[in-house]
Amino acid sequence: MRFEVLTLFPGLIRDTFTTGITGRAVANGLVELDTVDIRDFAVNDYGSVDDYTYGGGAGMLMMCEPVYNAFLEARRRIGSERCRVIFLTPSGQTFDEDMALEFSKEESLIFLCGHYEGIDERVTDEIVTDRVSVGDYVLTGGELPALVVMDAVTRLIPGVLGNDMSSESESFNNGLLEYPQYTRPPKWHDREVPEILLSGDHKKIEQYRMRQARRRTKDMRPDLYEEYIRKRGIF
Ligand code: ADE
Repeated sequence: MRFEVLTLFPGLIRDTFTTGITGRAVANGLVELDTVDIRDFAVNDYGSVDDYTYGGGAGMLMMCEPVYNAFLEARRRIGSERCRVIFLTPSGQTFDEDMALEFSKEESLIFLCGHYEGIDERVTDEIVTDRVSVGDYVLTGGELPALVVMDAVTRLIPGVLGNDMSSESESFNNGLLEYPQYTRPPKWHDREVPEILLSGDHKKIEQYRMRQARRRTKDMRPDLYEEYIRKRGIF
């Protein structure tokens, strides 16, 4: 997988992908991460990439030309004209695990991170294939959302998680939240690990975990639970 990120803060993107599982994915060559600094394509010697909004209104907008030229640079590096361009915006489709799985099957992805009050609509209309939001709140820029999407996609790439099973059993993989888990010691602050987990009876443990996952989903995310019941025809 190759990520190309169009951003005004390339350091933020690159630094985040140097640690942990994502850092290892880069070190192992499973992920290639590159940034294009949109300011390198400023329209003047002052480094301007933004301007006032036609029709009035607070704040500045990122201009078409710097964004477009940054995009052309990313596409040149990828060497293909057919690559999804993901624009991070609160007015996009809400990101979820299904979307992460779909993105993880691509060979390369270009991310466009906006700043100020947004980006001139004409350039996003011309280059963007997917408008993605990470939730119903407004952040100061698209870098953190891009990192969220890249992280979720990276862990789905075969070989990134040491144990291939662990991306499968986690929350959202069967439409349920994850069951509670415990490690040693068996008793901590008067709180005991549920006895059944110490029993060694794998069938019973599996049934117990399933019950816990269903209960947790019903309590925490009734919307997901309803969908789970509907899909399976369970009542
Ligand atoms: N940019 C600013 N806020 C955002 C959000 N919630 N999701 C994606 N991009 C954003």
